[in-house]
Amino acid sequence: MMGESEHMDIHDAGPRKSLDEMLDEAAHKLDKAIDGSKPQIGVVLGSGLGGFAEQIEDAITVPFADVPFMRKSTAAGHVGRFVAGEVEGMRVIAMQGRLHGYEGYTSQEVAFPIWLMRRLGTETLITTNAAGAINEAYHVGDFCVMADHINLTGRNPLVGQDANAFAPRFISLYEAYDPRLRALALDAARRLGIAAHEGTYLGLLGPSFETPAEIRAFRTLGADTVAMSVVEEVIAARHVGMRVLGISLCTNMACGIEGANPDDDEVRDVGEWKATDFDRLMRGIIVGIKGIA
Ligand code: HPA
Repeated sequence: MMGESEHMDIHDAGPRKSLDEMLDEAAHKLDKAIDGSKPQIGVVLGSGLGGFAEQIEDAITVPFADVPFMRKSTAAGHVGRFVAGEVEGMRVIAMQGRLHGYEGYTSQEVAFPIWLMRRLGTETLITTNAAGAINEAYHVGDFCVMADHINLTGRNPLVGQDANAFAPRFISLYEAYDPRLRALALDAARRLGIAAHEGTYLGLLGPSFETPAEIRAFRTLGADTVAMSVVEEVIAARHVGMRVLGISLCTNMACGIEGANPDDDEVRDVGEWKATDFDRLMRGIIVGIKGIA
């Protein structure tokens, strides 16, 4: 394993490249693959939510493996490809499957596709995931718009020299989750009759689920939802000035809440159960973004 301050591990042979150079090379390749279509919105589809990619019209799919320096998705239900095209007249690029720290990837490897999307011209990131609900007023199947986060992964993609080379690393995370996008998402949910809350998301490394004692502690810290993704992506997106919206589908009550004992199957089943609502909500949000673009 490498230290965070060194360059990212390169699986291709050849001279060592900086993160900036690797991103340029990857962006050049991906841009070509999607016909230089300059996506306006980047979407990261979480566990059980990958079906939204089917909503993308005139879709061009690009496996992560075809993009230099991109890691592959190894998590169950994460296909591992980019899907670029149009939704509601907006140009979208979705990640059908994401990269997680628990897969053994460094924080910069997790952040890589986010920085990459920015280099394609993408200004808005919608990152989604399945999460456990800590807030007892939430129900399984409800959505939660992220108002803020607590990063307990112990990691940050801006550590070291690499990210600092292309944008300053001491970034503010005040209103990291764009207030206008949050309002727009909650409004879309209300109009569509989809249950959605606004809450504080707590991100962990995983891959084990939490203990009941941890969940009690996280509630005291002010967390409403918990999962194993998103925070490193959001830091990377803010680092390069993207507007961010984060949405969780509450697939389970967090461990110990109402006796819950979450597992991976449950997470994916609830994703499938709510797939249509997720598609409708995403369309509603994209229409809203179009209105303010
Ligand atoms: N904990 C962590 N990650 C999760 C959960 C959870 O309860 N549900 C879905 N992802």
